[in-house]
Amino acid sequence: MTRCYEYGSMRLLLTGAAGMLGHDVAAAAERAGHDVTPLSRRELDIRDAAAVRAAVAAARPDAVINCAAWTDVDGAEAHEPDATALNGAAAGHVAGAAARAGAFTVQLSTDYVFDGTATTPYLESAPTGPRSAYGRSKLAGERAVAEHAPGAHAIVRTAWLFGAHGGNFVATMLRLANERDVLTVVDDQRGCPTFSGHLATALVTIAEQRLGGLRHVAGAGACTWYDLAAATFAATGARVELVRGRTADLDRPAPRPAYSVLHSERSDTPVLPPWQDGLHAYLQLGVTA
Ligand SMILES: NC(=O)c1ccc[n+]([C@@H]2O[C@H](COP(=O)([O-])OP(=O)(O)OC[C@H]3O[C@@H](n4cnc5c(N)ncnc54)[C@H](OP(=O)(O)O)[C@@H]3O)[C@@H](O)[C@H]2O)c1
Repeated sequence: MTRCYEYGSMRLLLTGAAGMLGHDVAAAAERAGHDVTPLSRRELDIRDAAAVRAAVAAARPDAVINCAAWTDVDGAEAHEPDATALNGAAAGHVAGAAARAGAFTVQLSTDYVFDGTATTPYLESAPTGPRSAYGRSKLAGERAVAEHAPGAHAIVRTAWLFGAHGGNFVATMLRLANERDVLTVVDDQRGCPTFSGHLATALVTIAEQRLGGLRHVAGAGACTWYDLAAATFAATGARVELVRGRTADLDRPAPRPAYSVLHSERSDTPVLPPWQDGLHAYLQLGVTA
């Protein structure tokens, strides 16, 4: 059954509400007139299944958007069981409690579920093959949510997020431009930079309209990290020499997908503005690192 809240407000429970995306989802839902219960990690640790059930019983939500996650990609390599407990099993707790209460779950996932070897955009039907512990933990979450909330969930894969309420690549570039004369940025990873403010609005729409199943939702277009840095410096007038770098030279614990452009093959998936518009919307907020 499709429920639409166009003419009324829904009750929305938000986990991980103090995170970068969580902040923006709370704001977007409030702007849309919904009754939001935003719970930070301190207020609700989603690994505690009983606490999750109690929170759902108290909030009586129509929808739950789970923004809580282990997001330290490199740290997950040495702590995969912990990352999986949070991104996998705990995501299942949230979805199961929501489903039993008749609520729709929106779960966030990532481009890291793919192996990054494609040369054309990844659609929802593309085979997964995560190469990092983080990617495997998020894929475990996708499976747990599908198992615990069959027919009552959306899994939204997104990528390369930047927003006003969390550390992100654009903020880091602006900080480094103030500290250095020359910056080397990798030019061999291609993806979809996504403004979390744009994504947040789409997530609220997905919850309102119960747009179920797998969904790829990311900033339109694609570029490399080098391109994103260049666009950031062009827009802000930062005076720094930008040099093209290679991922292999960074020697980070977790492998990064070389190519992780996301497209949706589903006509009712909300389409985000181009990543350049997201960058400008973010820069207009005047956030400094
Ligand atoms: N950032 C990206 O580029 C990106 C790309 C693709 C997908 N995603 C996905 O998008 C979602 C939101 O990411 P984000 O960028 O907003 O991350 P974030 O800023 O790190 O937010 C995650 C939030 O989860 C909270 N959290 C951690 N452990 C928790 C627990 N046990 N119980 C409840 N809350 C807990 C964190 O609290 P503390 O800060 O107190 O630990 C934090 O507030 C995640 O599912 C992520 O995997 C992100």
